[in-house]
Amino acid sequence: MNRKEFFSKAFVGGSLLFLAPAVFNACTKTADVTPGTGGPTTIDLTSSSFASLKTVGGYVYSGNMIIIRSSATNYIALSKICTHQSCTVGYDSSVNRLVCPCHGSMFSTNGSVLQGPANNSLTMYTATVNGTTLTIS
Ligand code: FES
Repeated sequence: MNRKEFFSKAFVGGSLLFLAPAVFNACTKTADVTPGTGGPTTIDLTSSSFASLKTVGGYVYSGNMIIIRSSATNYIALSKICTHQSCTVGYDSSVNRLVCPCHGSMFSTNGSVLQGPANNSLTMYTATVNGTTLTIS
């Protein structure tokens, strides 16, 4: 191996080592945090942070949850972490499904898997509204 070949191979190998943590971190699963470690989570629905919940079909993320305004009087709270490889799911109100952008898994609004590759349901939480306070437990 001449000097040019050595540096060429060392550079490529070094680049791979440099990128390895980013690649492996992308595949790391994130812990699913249950709301209310120490009590239920409450949300002030008048806060501008939750303005999307004023519209039926709107949703927001809070911690590890996705919260959806499912009707004039109801809200749904689920884990936002896809059970396949931990990407963040979104909500598509046109089909009333949670959709994972990474590999296409789809979930119903009760968290059950409608389409893989995910095999396990999203964790669903109890969401109750009282006035302008949403309590998730
Ligand atoms: S991470 Fe959601 S489908 Fe793969």
